[in-house]
Amino acid sequence: MNDAVREHYSPAGLTERLKAVLGPETGPLTPQQLGALDQFHTRGLAATAELARLVGITADLSVLDVGSGIGGPARFLAATYGCHVTGIDLSESFVEAARYLTARTGQSDLVSFQAADALQLPFGDGTFDVVLLQHVAMNIANRESLYREIRRVLKSGGRFATFDVVLNGGEPHYPVPWARTARGSFLLTANATLEAIERAGFRKRVSQDDTEAAKEFFAHLRASGPPPMPNLGVVMGPDFPQLAGNLGRSLMEGRLGVLTAVFQS
Ligand SMILES: C[S@@+](CC[C@H](N)C(=O)[O-])C[C@H]1O[C@@H](n2cnc3c(N)ncnc32)[C@H](O)[C@@H]1O
Repeated sequence: MNDAVREHYSPAGLTERLKAVLGPETGPLTPQQLGALDQFHTRGLAATAELARLVGITADLSVLDVGSGIGGPARFLAATYGCHVTGIDLSESFVEAARYLTARTGQSDLVSFQAADALQLPFGDGTFDVVLLQHVAMNIANRESLYREIRRVLKSGGRFATFDVVLNGGEPHYPVPWARTARGSFLLTANATLEAIERAGFRKRVSQDDTEAAKEFFAHLRASGPPPMPNLGVVMGPDFPQLAGNLGRSLMEGRLGVLTAVFQS
């Protein structure tokens, strides 16, 4: 495991900061109230909703969210569809924060989290109906192992949905939201990503270039300024607007793109 990736996602005192910013419990929080804070990817809650629709989530499916962050996507799926969702993430502090927020949304019966590496998933073969991977692959150098491991834990005929930043015409301006330097960033082009997934034995159902939608999102963010608190600055620190701004700029300059795709095992 790359130490730069681990360091990047190890904010000290995260759960304490969340407690302070969210204040005392006055009733369950909703995915919409937490969306600017806990959806750690381009286009936030709207992107998770679209991916869920594309992959076809229903209440009876068991879902694994690989690189689940502080758990926003997992909680949204459970709240919207009533399905069971398991999240795994490399970052112990993110897993602790994800569990805390899930208690605050009152969803601990449907949604659970554990610390694990995406390259060594702690589940038996054929455990899940659906696996999601949102803005995680860019931190993982060994894509062959990543996609094979995801396929291993899927049931036969299970579906895999990926939503990630890809290389387009150049390197990003660092720091970006997933890496403060190039040491923790392992981007591939859209074609190389799709080929690596197919080499792992998946069949493509849908693939779409979401670069224009991402550019619109960042243009809007630039015009309106950071979303009101609580937002991702609580998680990643006060320089988060700079990290997000660099991703927006790298997209606008045609250096990077955004790929959404759904596969069948
Ligand atoms: C940009 S965040 C996205 C979080 C979440 N998927 C979301 O969209 O809200 C990337 C996440 O991937 C996790 N991650 C990176 N490399 C990982 C690995 N090898 N195994 C598990 N998680 C990993 C990080 O700890 C971080 O939580």
